[in-house]
Amino acid sequence: MEKFYITTAIYYVNSKPHIGSVSEAIAADVIARYKRLSNFDVFFSTGTDEHSQKIEAKAKELGIDPQKFVDEAASLWKTIFDRFNISYSRFIRTSDPDHTEVVKDFFVKMYEKGDIYLSTYEGWYCVRDETFLKDSELVEGKCPHCGGEVQRLSEDNYFFRLSKYRDDLLKFYLENPQFVEPESRYNELLNILKGGLQDISVTRKSFKFGIHVPFDEEHTIYVWYDALINYVSAIGYLTNKEMFSKYWPADLHLIGKDITRFHGIVWPAMLMSMGLPLPKKIFAHGFWNLEGMKMSKSLGNVVDPVEFAENFSKLSNITFAKSVDVLRYYLSREAIFGLDGDFRMESFFRRYNSDLANDYGNLINRTLNMLSKYRNLEVPPYSVDDEFVAFAKSKFNQYKEYMEKYALSFALDRVFEIISYLNNYIQVKEPWKLSKETGKLNVVLDTLLEGIAYVSVLLQPFMPNITAFILDEFGVENRNISEYDGQILKKNVLNLFEPIFPRLEKEKIDLDKKTEENEDNVIEISKVKYDDFAKLDLRVAKILSAKRVKNSDKLIELKVSLGKEERTIVAGIGKFYSEEGLIGKKIVIVANLEERRLMGITSQGMLLAASTSNKENLSLLTVDKDIEEGAKIS
Ligand code: MSP
Repeated sequence: MEKFYITTAIYYVNSKPHIGSVSEAIAADVIARYKRLSNFDVFFSTGTDEHSQKIEAKAKELGIDPQKFVDEAASLWKTIFDRFNISYSRFIRTSDPDHTEVVKDFFVKMYEKGDIYLSTYEGWYCVRDETFLKDSELVEGKCPHCGGEVQRLSEDNYFFRLSKYRDDLLKFYLENPQFVEPESRYNELLNILKGGLQDISVTRKSFKFGIHVPFDEEHTIYVWYDALINYVSAIGYLTNKEMFSKYWPADLHLIGKDITRFHGIVWPAMLMSMGLPLPKKIFAHGFWNLEGMKMSKSLGNVVDPVEFAENFSKLSNITFAKSVDVLRYYLSREAIFGLDGDFRMESFFRRYNSDLANDYGNLINRTLNMLSKYRNLEVPPYSVDDEFVAFAKSKFNQYKEYMEKYALSFALDRVFEIISYLNNYIQVKEPWKLSKETGKLNVVLDTLLEGIAYVSVLLQPFMPNITAFILDEFGVENRNISEYDGQILKKNVLNLFEPIFPRLEKEKIDLDKKTEENEDNVIEISKVKYDDFAKLDLRVAKILSAKRVKNSDKLIELKVSLGKEERTIVAGIGKFYSEEGLIGKKIVIVANLEERRLMGITSQGMLLAASTSNKENLSLLTVDKDIEEGAKIS
C-alpha cells in the first residue's frame, strides 16, 4: 500500500482556534480522508507550537506556570480538533518529550558539523510573528509583516549557516518547479533564493521557556527551529526508525501563505544539513477574511468555529456534528484552495440552502418518498441507467484529478454536477407518469438510489458525519473512493428519515463576534458550570453481551444492563477489545444522550473510554468496587 504523509502547521496556543486555523486542519483532514479512502496508508500529523515568547508572556500575565498554561491550552486545541473530526494520526506538541529529544539531536549534530556556530545578534525581534528582523526591514519602526511592536536585541546567539545551503537550494528549486505551490508562492521563494541568503539566529538568551541547548544551557532554542522539526519527530525520528523510514519524506506540508519562507527555505536547508530527504511538496493556502475584511482579533472580527457551529446547529435544528460538516463543506467549496477566501454569512446561507438543502437534501427526500410511494420502500433490482454510469465515470475522473491537485472546491463542483444530473433526471423521466411501466420505473428509481449512494461516497472526506448516516441508511458496504462500477447499495428495503438539511428561512446567524481589547487575551481555559455537568446522566452499566457489527472492524454492539432496564450501545471499540473479554465488565455510560443510528443499529447511549494520544490503544472506564448496575455517577 502506498504511503502518504501529510502535515499541517502546528498552532500557537496563546489564542484559541479561529476559523482560519481550523480551516487549514479541515483541508488537511479532507485530503487525509480522501487518500485513506483511496487506499493509501496515511499518516496525518497536526498539533501545537508551544515554546514561543508570546506564550511565555501570556502565561506570566495570567500568573500561571507556562508549562501548565500550554498543557491546558493544547488540550483545548485538541478537543476542538476532535469536535471538528480532524482525523489526525498524531497530535504532536512541541513539549512532548520525544520531540524535545529530536530537537536536541538536530542541534548537536548540526553544531558538530559546523552548521551551527556562536556569534552575536544585533537587531530586532517581532514577538507576535516570532521573527528576527534587520534595521532595513522595519516599516516605520514596526514589523513589516504584522505591523506589531518590535524589540531591540543584542545578545550572543547560535546561528545556523543558512547561507551555505543557498546554492543547493536554488538548484533544487530550479529542478523542482512544483516543490512549492501555488506557483506564485514558488516564485516568491525562488526570488528570495536568487537574492542570496544570510545565516539566521537559532537561539535566544533573554528568554527561558523552551528547549535549551544541551551543551550551553543558557541558550533557549528559537521557536521556529524547534517547531519545524515536529514534522520528523511526529513520525518517530528517534523513537521509531521503522515508522520514520516508512513515512519520511512528507508528501505534503500544508501551511498558510504567511509562513512559506520558513517551510520553503529554512526547513529544507536544515534537512540538507542533517542529510535527510526534502519533503515532496509544500502547499500554501490563502487566508480567510471575514465579510471582506482581514480577520483580526484586535478588530474583533474573528469567527470562533465552535460557537459558530453551535449557533448554526441550534438555528437549523441539526446536531452539532452535522453542523460541523456543513461548515467543513462551506470552507471547502467557497474558496479556491490556495487563494484567499471570504467568509460571508450571505454565502454561507446560500450554500446551505441551495447546495445542501435544495440540491443534495431534496434529491434524497424526493427519491425516498417516491420509493415509498411506488415500491413500499423496497429497492428495485439493480438496473442503473447506462447513460448515468458513463456520466458518473467522467465526473469521477475530473473529481479525482482535482483532489490529487488539492483543488478541493473544483472537485466538489464535479460532485454537484452529478447531483444536478440526478435532479434533472427526475424532471426528464417524470417517474410519476411511469407507475404502470415497472421496468422503466425500476431503472429511474435504481439510478437515483445508486446515484445518491455514489455521490455520498465521494462527499465523505468533506462531510464525514452526514455521509456516514446516509451510507448507513443505504447499506453501502464498499465506501472506498473509486470509479462507479455498479451496485454499491446493498439493502433490500430502506427507511424514510427526516430531511437531513432542513431548509432555513432565517438568513442571519448570530456570529457571536467578540471584541477583544487585547489581541492575546483570548484563551480561556473553559470551565463547565456545575449545573451543566449535572445534566449528564452517567451510570454504571454491566455488559451482558457483545457482538461485532457486520462489515465494521471498529463497531461492537453491546447489550448492557442498568439494573431496571437494558440498553443497546454501539461502540467503536472493536480494535481494542474482544467480544468475550467485554462480557461482565462494569463500565460507565452516558445514559441520557440522544439516540444515534450506526450501521443500521440504534445506539441508546455512549460508553466512556480513554485513548492514548496516538489512538493506538483504548481503555474503558470502569468502577473499582463492586457497585450495582444502574448506579448514578456524580
Ligand atoms: N506556529 C507557527 C507555525 C509553525 S509550523 C512548523 C504558526 N502558528 S499560527 O498559529 O500563527 O498559524 C498556524 C496556521 O494557521 C498557519 O499555517 C497560518 O497560515 C494559518 N492561519 C492563520 N490565520 C489564518 C487565516 N485567517 N486563514 C487561513 N489560515 C490561517 O504560524
